[in-house]
Amino acid sequence: MSSNKTFTMIKPGAVRNKHIGHILSKIEEAGFTIAAIKTTQMSLQVAAEFYAVHKDKPFFQELISFMSSGPIIAMVLLKDNAVEDFRKLIGATDPDKAEEGTIRKLFATSKTANAIHGSDSDENAEKESAFFFARQEWLRSSEVVL
Ligand code: CMP
Repeated sequence: MSSNKTFTMIKPGAVRNKHIGHILSKIEEAGFTIAAIKTTQMSLQVAAEFYAVHKDKPFFQELISFMSSGPIIAMVLLKDNAVEDFRKLIGATDPDKAEEGTIRKLFATSKTANAIHGSDSDENAEKESAFFFARQEWLRSSEVVL
């Protein structure tokens, strides 16, 4: 059974380009409840930790450098089938391949600066939520009535 939680970050490029409001509207209009939200900035080291699974990929240095280049908006989102539905809403990693109307099609400028992150599994949604939010914060978020 799939969980009702996912984790997302609006990435530094989309924050710099002032797309926060528009992206939050798309998320809410798609039926997600924003259960936890904060602005923060990752150091290079923290970004490397968050994306450790990609450490051997050729794009890793560019990715962590970009992700630590400015503020992000971290969020825990609630909805039935959250992980899968959110990945549909944001679209493909490569904005050239993202479907019309998706957040990445609208706001991404490259594969690295692709506007938004979304967890790829229920397990990673839990881990990533815990990476950014204190246990108390995200446990309380699970009590939000959908
Ligand atoms: P994200 O959802 O944050 O998860 C990992 C990130 O790595 C991804 O979005 C992209 O920004 C980046 N990424 C994945 N594949 C590539 C690639 N082939 N080239 C550059 N960046 C990539």
